Order: sequence, then C-alpha cells, then structure tokens
Amino acid sequence: MPIKNIITVPNEILRKKSQLVEKITNLEKTLVNDMFETMYNSNGIGLAAIQIGIAKRIVVLDVSGKDEEKKPMCFINPKIKNTSDERSVYEEGCLSIPNTFIQIERPKTCVVEYVDLNSKKKEIKCNDLLSTCIQHECNHLDGKLIIDFLSKFKKDLIIKKISKNKSSPNKIVV
Ligand code: NI
Repeated sequence: MPIKNIITVPNEILRKKSQLVEKITNLEKTLVNDMFETMYNSNGIGLAAIQIGIAKRIVVLDVSGKDEEKKPMCFINPKIKNTSDERSVYEEGCLSIPNTFIQIERPKTCVVEYVDLNSKKKEIKCNDLLSTCIQHECNHLDGKLIIDFLSKFKKDLIIKKISKNKSSPNKIVV
C-alpha cells in the first residue's frame, strides 16, 4: 500500500553498498510490495531497495510495454554473470536522478542468478532492455549511478542543476 519517497542525488545514501539478504521474511515481502507500488507510481521500469533508503540487495523490474500486461519481476541477491561481448545502447534515466538521460553502452545479454520471493534459487537469461535494466539496478546495489559513466565535469553539472531545482521549490513569477 504505502508509496515510499524515492531518494535523489546528491543524497549519499545512494552511494551505500547494499547487503545480502540472509532470510526472506514478511518484512522483505512487504518491502517488495512497497517497491512495486513506488515504481509503478513513478512510471519507472526498475527500482532498487536503496532508492527508498533500504540497503538490501533487492531489485524490482517491469519492462513490459505500455499496452502489454504488467510483468512484475523481483530479484533478491541478484548476481550478473556471462555478460556478452556484444553491446546495446539505451538512453537511460533513473528515478533518483530526475530529468536526466544518459546514453550508456552495456552487454546486450547476461545471465542473472538470484533468489525469488519463495527463497528459491533461480537463473534467467536477459536480453536487450531487460539486460540493461538489471545491470542498471545491480549498479545501484553497489552504490553506482548512471552519472558515474560521465566525466567528472558533466557529473558535477548535473548534480548542481538538480540540487538547485530542489532548493527553490517556491519560485513564482507574478
Ligand atoms: Ni536507477
């Protein structure tokens, strides 16, 4: 039910390394539900727990198209392996970095090892959009953001712009 606040840059929480989930209890299940609600509410296609301030290795995704049925996916302790040499490029945005899109090249396919909500170990092969999204979210679990793919100059510029917009919410023109 509860939609959570999404943390945005430059909040240092986003730089924290998330911890492995040892046991999946009702707490984790509730967290996953909240993450889905928060993600759908913001029209995002992926969210990592750290983006709502919880440093646990949990990711939710839904890469289904606009007119398709929803396809919620949840990954606990995801681990990426077998990345392809072949790359794909997407303009990536991030719910924690408002109004910013960055072209990023990543492995076109990968395999993700993870645990599902029923504590079962699973593996899934990911292509294209799903491959990019899961890699983006796994970066979050290690405190890495899409702006880290840029030069320091460009990165500082983006953070400055976002911080400035945040600090002047009452701007009016009369
Ligand atoms: Ni993100």
